[in-house]
Amino acid sequence: MAGFEPRRLLVTGAAGFIGSSVVRHVLERAEASSTVERLVVLDALTYAGHRVNLSGVDRDARLSFIEGDICDRRLVETIIADHEVDAVLHLAAESHVDRSIESADAFVRTNVNGTFTLLDVVRRAWEGRAASTRFVHVSTDEVYGALGPTGAFTETTPYAPSSPYAASKASSDLLALAYFKTYGLSAIVTNSCNNYGPRQLPEKLLPLMITNAAEGKRLPVYGEGKQVREWLHVDDHAAGLWLALTRGAPGHSYNFGSGEEMANLALVELVADLVDDELKRERGTSRRLLEFVPDRKGHDFRYAIDASKARAALGWEPERKLALALADTVRWYLANAEWRKTVASDEHRRFQAVHYGARPARSEEQTP
Ligand SMILES: NC(=O)c1ccc[n+]([C@@H]2O[C@H](COP(=O)([O-])OP(=O)(O)OC[C@H]3O[C@@H](n4cnc5c(N)ncnc54)[C@H](O)[C@@H]3O)[C@@H](O)[C@H]2O)c1
Repeated sequence: MAGFEPRRLLVTGAAGFIGSSVVRHVLERAEASSTVERLVVLDALTYAGHRVNLSGVDRDARLSFIEGDICDRRLVETIIADHEVDAVLHLAAESHVDRSIESADAFVRTNVNGTFTLLDVVRRAWEGRAASTRFVHVSTDEVYGALGPTGAFTETTPYAPSSPYAASKASSDLLALAYFKTYGLSAIVTNSCNNYGPRQLPEKLLPLMITNAAEGKRLPVYGEGKQVREWLHVDDHAAGLWLALTRGAPGHSYNFGSGEEMANLALVELVADLVDDELKRERGTSRRLLEFVPDRKGHDFRYAIDASKARAALGWEPERKLALALADTVRWYLANAEWRKTVASDEHRRFQAVHYGARPARSEEQTP
């Protein structure tokens, strides 16, 4: 399928969970690797961003790492001009729903103002070059709000975000689409369900449960654990983002989902059993650490994605199945204790203490 061939690509937020998988995909997968001459990474290295996430792939001569803020207009202008950037995969964001409930300032700043800065800089730099440029804005299914027990979000589902995080992502999605309509910027929006896989900060649901179970700490589950989420492996998402960039139509949105839904409690129980198996413990050992905690404010009941547009228009198909890939993910976190130490910053510890301050000895928290 003929499509757009990015040559000088900027990836924002590439020291985070999904961004680092995207960089690996671009530099290591043959189809992607063949067209890209330069890959510039822009990341502010917040509590969520760590250079270790790019270890190995950062030796590639095409990669330039720039520590900086997407809200810094001068810096963004310089990067776009100096590196002659013709494509952007925009993943930099504040991404933790619970942090947005604690304080939304950073979410509005980075997710709304930061995205605006990027969009505004590239639409000026790329004026009259819509056919030879692309901007992919990476977003979430949380913009659509909550579903009941049936149905799935399509690209035409109206936005109805519940959390400050989701509202900030919805705002930035709308800005990207408005820049297409108003200025003809070749912007594309993607909305994915929950991701799982290696290198996710262990304050998000899955890595938190894996590491807590391994360390014999409690496994806190919101409410009764009945919320349903759909789970997509991060590398399948990265592959989809590459296809959105190279085959997507400007002005369009694409939903990415696996069709694999699970209630939070069932998922945590599965993870507990996988950890027991991996550590050769008696089954049930980790399940005894389960503890129900008061529900998150505004907790959406269910998200589910209809990914038929991405399948038909981009030729995208997720390769991994949750049953197998979750076991691999558990093994990765258990085998990478050094990585876990490296990413556990003071800010990460502060959040844990504030969020579960009453019981610091067993304190951890969960999302998404
Ligand atoms: N994790 C998921 O399940 C999921 C699902 C759908 C969509 N998304 C979206 O994908 C993107 C990446 O998510 P993630 O889970 O990898 O997040 P993450 O929190 O792991 O990584 C975010 C990265 O952005 C960087 N960053 C934050 N603020 C910045 C700023 N002002 N300037 C430059 N860099 C900054 C951080 O240092 C970090 O490296 C986000 O836009 C998120 O909304 C995530």
